[in-house]
Amino acid sequence: MAQDPLIEKFRRAGQAQVFAFVDALPGEARQGLIAEAAEIDLAEVDRLNRTLVAAGATAGVNLEGLAPAPYEKRPEHGGDAGAWARAKAAGEAALRAGRVAAFTVAGGQGTRLGYDGPKGTFRVTPVRQKSLFQVFAEKIRAAGVRYGRPLHWFIMTSHANHGATEAFFDANGFFGLDRARVHFIRQGRMPAVDFSGKILLETKGSIALSPDGHGGSLRALERSGALDLMRREGVDTLSYFQVDNPLVRCVDPAFIGWHLLRGAEMSAKMVPKAYAEERVGHFCTQAGRTVVIEYSDLPMAMQRATDGSGRLRYLAGSIAIHVLDREFVRRMARGEQALPFHRADKRIPTIDAAGASVKPEKANGVKFEMFVFDAMPFAENPVVIETLRADDFSPVKNADGVDSPKTCRDDQLRQFARWLRANGAMVAADATGLPHLALEIAPSFGYDEDSFAEAWQQLAAKPSLTDGLYLS
Ligand code: UTP
Repeated sequence: MAQDPLIEKFRRAGQAQVFAFVDALPGEARQGLIAEAAEIDLAEVDRLNRTLVAAGATAGVNLEGLAPAPYEKRPEHGGDAGAWARAKAAGEAALRAGRVAAFTVAGGQGTRLGYDGPKGTFRVTPVRQKSLFQVFAEKIRAAGVRYGRPLHWFIMTSHANHGATEAFFDANGFFGLDRARVHFIRQGRMPAVDFSGKILLETKGSIALSPDGHGGSLRALERSGALDLMRREGVDTLSYFQVDNPLVRCVDPAFIGWHLLRGAEMSAKMVPKAYAEERVGHFCTQAGRTVVIEYSDLPMAMQRATDGSGRLRYLAGSIAIHVLDREFVRRMARGEQALPFHRADKRIPTIDAAGASVKPEKANGVKFEMFVFDAMPFAENPVVIETLRADDFSPVKNADGVDSPKTCRDDQLRQFARWLRANGAMVAADATGLPHLALEIAPSFGYDEDSFAEAWQQLAAKPSLTDGLYLS
């Protein structure tokens, strides 16, 4: 095996340890290892080792000339109501014309939640215990019905969860969607390295590979042929959201319309930060471009700075909801303008020189990830619009505490109660808007304020609001 050209390439790149045990592997395992190694771009790893891992390589974030990014305020916060109405009409027209597809990034490892299985299969709704995937599927289906054009839905998976994700949809009849319009695309992987830049093995016959971050979605869309499929189908706009957030408006006509009317290549939703130290990315401008600066990169004094009226100066928090132009994704994916990688020091299960397994207690290496918001500065005419958390954002990240199944369930209940109250129903609730009863509204009945209001007004007999009510 020593003369295998791939092994030779790794040896010349100073990565011979990847094949340290290859001669002892049975044939199939050996082929598996070689196939994994073939996925690795050694020149890219070398560049990342030099720029992110090597001693003294502090790829510090440049804060020069940073200022808060402007954003479109909601009408109730002083925004231009006419402009919002025009945006909504433009977004609805695009949906009716079949120009929009939904896009969910679901390739993450979900380590904080600690749930065994693809995160999208995690059950979140308060009464029916629907999974995240089911919630999105029903919203996307309902939007297709509303606008008379069924939507394509792209779901980015990882190597680890691809099969289980497909099997889940299959077992559930694709939740009533046309399966020809649901597309699973697998994201790329990156090898983890130790602190001297050596690629780590997970076992004697496998490399420590992990998903390349949600920013890998741009490459994955291109490589999988999704962009070509979109072009053939007349789809030029992608509505991007994360798998962990059931409150999200999967396709929001006003957001899509703002993006299209401005000729934007990439747009984003912001929420005003709840408090100065909130751990979100911040929308900023720099040298005429829109950038997102992570909380960990923005000095605390800037996070806490206020303007004359006492409002936070860096107010606009990122909630990972975007609209993307198809050809912009293609341009970014082809690498003429590439997303940067970020370094994350992690505990990476590996093996020692004798091949014995090691479960490290502290970080023993580096993973490389791309973030989708790093595409913002490359986009022409980006728009940032304000949204209300209550309408769009309550992620399930952690097993307990903030952003947990409990907080997400409560936020769904508050949303259902708010829609009911806005239409004249009496829903008893506590001071935070949390109803005293558990209830659930199926997306097929109403998947946002507008669709709910229409369906509710049409009900000849309004249901009595009892515990466990499920409106469908
Ligand atoms: P998170 O940053 O919450 O990461 O991902 P995670 O891997 O899901 O969870 P932790 O940090 O291990 O607990 C935000 C969104 O980006 C997707 C996730 O599936 C989620 O929808 N994502 C993240 C990917 O699709 N691929 C990745 O490589 C990383």
